[in-house]
Amino acid sequence: MSKADADATDGYDDARETDVLVVGSGIAGLAAALGAAREGADVTVATKATRPEGASSWWAQGGIAVSRDDPGQFKRDILAASADTADPAAVDVLVDNANDAVRDVLVDTLDVDFDTNGDDYDFTREAAHDQDRILHVDAATGKAIHVPFLHYLDDHDGVTVRDDTAALQLITHEGRVHGALLESDGEVTPTYAGAVVLATGGIGDLYPRSTNPDGSTGDGVAMAALAGADTEDMEYVQFHPTVYTGEDPFLVSEAVRGEGGLLRNDEGERFMPDYHEDAELAPRDVVARAVEKEREATGEVWLDVSGLDFAGEFPGLAGKCESRGVEWQRGIPVGPAEHFLCGGVAVDDRGRASLDRLYAVGECSCTGVHGANRLASTSLLEGLVWGLRAGEDAAGHDASVVEAPDLLDRDPALPENFASEKFVRLRRVMDEYVGLRRHPDDLGRAQAVLRRLKGEVDAYVRTRTSRSLYELRYASVTALLVTRAAAENDRSVGTHNIVEADEARAR
Ligand code: SIN
Repeated sequence: MSKADADATDGYDDARETDVLVVGSGIAGLAAALGAAREGADVTVATKATRPEGASSWWAQGGIAVSRDDPGQFKRDILAASADTADPAAVDVLVDNANDAVRDVLVDTLDVDFDTNGDDYDFTREAAHDQDRILHVDAATGKAIHVPFLHYLDDHDGVTVRDDTAALQLITHEGRVHGALLESDGEVTPTYAGAVVLATGGIGDLYPRSTNPDGSTGDGVAMAALAGADTEDMEYVQFHPTVYTGEDPFLVSEAVRGEGGLLRNDEGERFMPDYHEDAELAPRDVVARAVEKEREATGEVWLDVSGLDFAGEFPGLAGKCESRGVEWQRGIPVGPAEHFLCGGVAVDDRGRASLDRLYAVGECSCTGVHGANRLASTSLLEGLVWGLRAGEDAAGHDASVVEAPDLLDRDPALPENFASEKFVRLRRVMDEYVGLRRHPDDLGRAQAVLRRLKGEVDAYVRTRTSRSLYELRYASVTALLVTRAAAENDRSVGTHNIVEADEARAR
C-alpha cells in the first residue's frame, strides 16, 4: 500500500494510512521500522522527540552486550542479575540472536565505529557480567548508534519519520488495533495502520531524578493498557546507582566501575565489599540500595576514579564533570536515579501484545528478559533484537479504516501550570512511596493519591487534546500500574524491595 491521505473520517479534516505505524524513535522503534521496511512494508515512524536527543537510546552510555564465544555464560549472567526471575525462553531469544543482529544492523548496515583494541573490538565489562563482552563507543554508545540509524532510515525507501508528533490514543475495533490518533502542531489526525508497534521508551518523568530524557511519560504502556492490552512486571523499576548528584545531573556509566572505579562513603571508606562479594560489580539493584544507605548514613557517596585513566578512557564523562565544576580527580558525587522500567506491555518472542496487531518493543515492553532486575548493556540489545523481529512480523497487513475515537478540543486552554503542578505531586508520591524502598501501607496510600490525581486529569481529557495533558494522563496511568503491581507483589526481589515500616519511614 502506498502512503496516501485517506478520505476525511469521523469529523477529522484529514486521515492517513500506512502499513506499519511505529510510535517512538529509539533503537527499538528504528529496528522495527527497518525490519518492516525490509519486508516491503510502507512504514511511518511517529515520534514526539525532536530528533535526536529526545530518544532514550541517544543517552545510552555503556554499550551493547554480545555473546562472544560463550552464549551460555551470557544467559547465566542475565538470569543471575535478575535473581532468577527472568524468563529463560526470552533470554534464549535475546542471546541466540545477539551476535547476528549486531553484525547485520550495527556493523554491516550502519557501520558503527565501535572502539577497538589492536585487531579486535575493545570489549568492556559492567556490573554482574562474568566476561568482557560489551561493545562500546567511548561511553556514548547510544548516540553512536542512534544518529546513523536515523540517517539510514531517512534515506530508506518506504520509511517516513515524523518527528514532533505524539500518539494520543490507539484506534481499536473489535479487539484489533487499527492505528492511532496522532497530534502534531495541535492538529489531531487518525493514522490507520495494518499494525502498530509501540516503542515509546521509559518512565523517567514519573520520578524527580532520572537518567531518561524529558517526555519519558510511559506513553506506550498507558496507551496499550487503556486499550485493554496486558502489562507485566510493572513493579520492577530499576534505579541506576551512579548518577551525579549536583545541578544538571548526568549518568556516570557502570563501565567506569567495570574499569576499576570504586565507591566510597563521605568518610572515605570503600563500602561495597560489605554488601556483596562482587563489590562495585554487584547487580545494579544491590549497588543502588547500598549507595542510598551510605548516603543517608554519611552524607555523600563518591565514585573514586583515581585508579584508572578516567580522562583517557572516558573523555565524554570527564568533560561533563569539568563543565559542572566537578574535580573528578577528587571523586564524583553520585547517588541513585530512576533508570529503566523492566516491565511493560506484555509481549511474546515477536513483540506481539495481547491485542491483535499491536506490538511493543524496547523499554515500554515486557519480553521477560529482565525479570526483576536488568543486566547492564542489555537494553540496546533487547531493543535491536525484538525491534527487528516485531517489525518483520508486523509487515504484511493492510490498513483498514474504522471509526476513530472522537477527541474533543472544545476548550484548548488549561489552567495555568495545571500539568506542571500535577507532575510535582505525582513525582513526590512515586519518590516517597514507590522508589528504592517500599512498604505495603505506603503503596496503598500512593494508590489513593494517584487515583485522585488521575480522576482530575481525566476530567480535562474529556474536552481537551493538548499534548501536555495527555503526557500527564499517561504518567498517571503508568504510575498507577507500577504502584498497583508493587502492592500486589509481596515478594521482595531485585528492584522490588519491601522494607519494614521503620526503614520506610527513615527516609
Ligand atoms: C551504564 O552505562 O551504566 C548504563 C548501561 C545500561 O543501563 O545498560
